[in-house]
Amino acid sequence: MKYYITTPIYYINDKPHIGHAYTMILSDVAARWHRIKGDDVKFLTGTDENSKKTVLAAAKAGVDDIARYTDSMSAGWSDTWRAMNITYDEFIRTTEPRHQRSALALFHAAHKAGDIYVKKYQGLYCSGCEAYKTEKDLVDGLCPDHKRAPDAVEEENYFFAVTRYRDQLLAHIEQNPLFIRPVSRRNEVVNFIKDAMEDFSVSRVNPGIGIEIPQTSELPLSGQVLYVWFDALANYITACGYGTEDSWNKDGYWPASLHMMGKDIIKFHCAFWPAMLLSAGLPLPESVFAHGFFTVEGQKISKSLGNAVNPLDITSVYGNDALRWYLLSEITQGEDGEYSSEGLRQVYRSALSSGIGNCFQRVMTMVQKYCDGKIPEGWDIVGPSQEKWVLYSEAMNTLDFKRACGEVLELVKACDQYIDQQQPWALAKIDPVRVRIVLANLVRTLADIALMIRPLMPDTATRMLAYFGSQATEKALMSPQRATVHGHDILEPGFAFPQVEPLFPPIV
Ligand code: MSP
Repeated sequence: MKYYITTPIYYINDKPHIGHAYTMILSDVAARWHRIKGDDVKFLTGTDENSKKTVLAAAKAGVDDIARYTDSMSAGWSDTWRAMNITYDEFIRTTEPRHQRSALALFHAAHKAGDIYVKKYQGLYCSGCEAYKTEKDLVDGLCPDHKRAPDAVEEENYFFAVTRYRDQLLAHIEQNPLFIRPVSRRNEVVNFIKDAMEDFSVSRVNPGIGIEIPQTSELPLSGQVLYVWFDALANYITACGYGTEDSWNKDGYWPASLHMMGKDIIKFHCAFWPAMLLSAGLPLPESVFAHGFFTVEGQKISKSLGNAVNPLDITSVYGNDALRWYLLSEITQGEDGEYSSEGLRQVYRSALSSGIGNCFQRVMTMVQKYCDGKIPEGWDIVGPSQEKWVLYSEAMNTLDFKRACGEVLELVKACDQYIDQQQPWALAKIDPVRVRIVLANLVRTLADIALMIRPLMPDTATRMLAYFGSQATEKALMSPQRATVHGHDILEPGFAFPQVEPLFPPIV
């Protein structure tokens, strides 16, 4: 099956922070999970560059050459994701020629459908949101998200007749319960479409960057560029070759399986974007998942508060996997949450160091001692039940990664209890045959744990797998059977494994 997952493309006027990293981690877990299941995955991310914010930020940084500025800022984003082990397949920039072609093609398709018209407009524009605001949106005259007063703008622009699609959008949402996830967000979108959605301007007077709309007899305005959201949303189809005759959807990834994002931008993705696609006669994405927002040390992430934590500052101390586990296991997907350095430290100590890490170290050290450092054979319990795998897979399929982490920790707990009951160190003195069986049972369950954490903590999984057999990693990660491979499939009895190193060493 094709599985096409996208993240928002990020504004480049600033560096990535922990909130952006969260979106990337969720998407990466989903992408890895689908690769494990054997799906043909395309994972897209990128940068949203044609924004007035970019022009202002370049000027503030004293860089005259915008292209030089966008190149270096965009590279900062892709470098961060690479350093964080985010396995995106494609990185798109809206300043690329292929994207300009695609976004304009989408605009022309909407025009051809009769959905584009010229209108003189007076409105309140928030450049933080890159969107017009109504009086109703404001709190004490300020944009509630950016805490500043929008600018009064008067322009003649092209408008997109999104309201023509009101009924179709509502019907689509009703008929496709999985279109907006989590379901708790659906009402918010439905109310917006019913009561507040108005035709929106899809062009702006050129702010010094953007995709220029060529003037023709049918498109009479001059000096207009595509509105940054119309431009940005098109990225999802640009990456499938839209705007070219021969390569559009050649690989069959469109419609996307999942657009992942924060709750701040669902209106654009669940109302405007599907209407734009309907206008162009293109199929709609299967699903949009909006995760919550989180605070840092109790406060909203903001530049002025200086709490925009750089994810690399965290991963350089704790490692990529620990940050992943912390965010995945502590925040209920879809709900708001909190990042705190103390919270991360505690999770590292308890679930990782004393939990998974300690269990692994205990078992493997005993195997070293009582089984000559070789993987024992002859287990006599079936390892985690089939039901456990079903529960875990269900959690992964529904993006409930917190529950998936919980399933893993239950297995760790079961191993710890089994060790306490069986007391292998005592057993070794009286029954050296039995102790090998007990340890074989434990190693087998650890192998299942390693397999379950593959998408959640990929580095840790690979490190664990290296102990189980010379082929264990290949079998788990590369073989065509990887979707159904379980602990007992990868263990190689007699395999002399290397010196046991702590998976999560103490951090001072
Ligand atoms: N450029 C637009 C998206 C265009 S997509 C066609 C944009 N960019 S952004 O740089 O502002 O990124 C917004 C996204 O960053 C959110 O949707 C969310 O994924 C992530 N987050 C930003 N702050 C966040 C938190 N405080 N908490 C969680 N996620 C956060 O909007």
